[in-house]
Amino acid sequence: MKHLRFYLILLPALLILQPSGMGGDAPAAAGIKFPKKVNAIIQNKCYGCHSNEGQSDKVKAKLNWDLLPTMSASEQSEKLGHIMEVLEKGKMPPARFLEKEPGMKLTDAETAKLKKWAKKTAKKVSK
Ligand code: HEC
Repeated sequence: MKHLRFYLILLPALLILQPSGMGGDAPAAAGIKFPKKVNAIIQNKCYGCHSNEGQSDKVKAKLNWDLLPTMSASEQSEKLGHIMEVLEKGKMPPARFLEKEPGMKLTDAETAKLKKWAKKTAKKVSK
């Protein structure tokens, strides 16, 4: 029965490790859905700073994509409001960062896609 014990230990470990995912996918959880294309934009253009992997606690406090699905509906709609606002004003990623990494700028199509998603999702979570 040695094997059985091994698997009993391994199984919970796998269950714990899985959600964070090796590829760092934004979590698709509780009420908030991340369609593939939206997820790809977030991964490429936001995630480095606004996720558990980010360096700055201040920036993560403003927005952490990993935590968004775990928040209350009212917090989610507040965050989604901020997201729409920065997209509206073209404030993210920050200009200072784009000077060094111009390739990280959102294209118009990406901005439109994210905005549409944020608007739709905000409506859904506030229901
Ligand atoms: C290079 C790091 C970096 C990247 C990449 C980045 N951000 Fe930010 N973000 C910041 C910083 C720094 C702040 C805090 C700015 C401030 O306080 O003035 C911030 C703040 C924010 C805020 C909060 C604004 C507020 O007033 O509450 C939102 C929302 C946001 N970012 C969304 C995004 C989105 C969406 C993306 C991807 C399109 C993105 N960010 C990409 C660094 C980044």
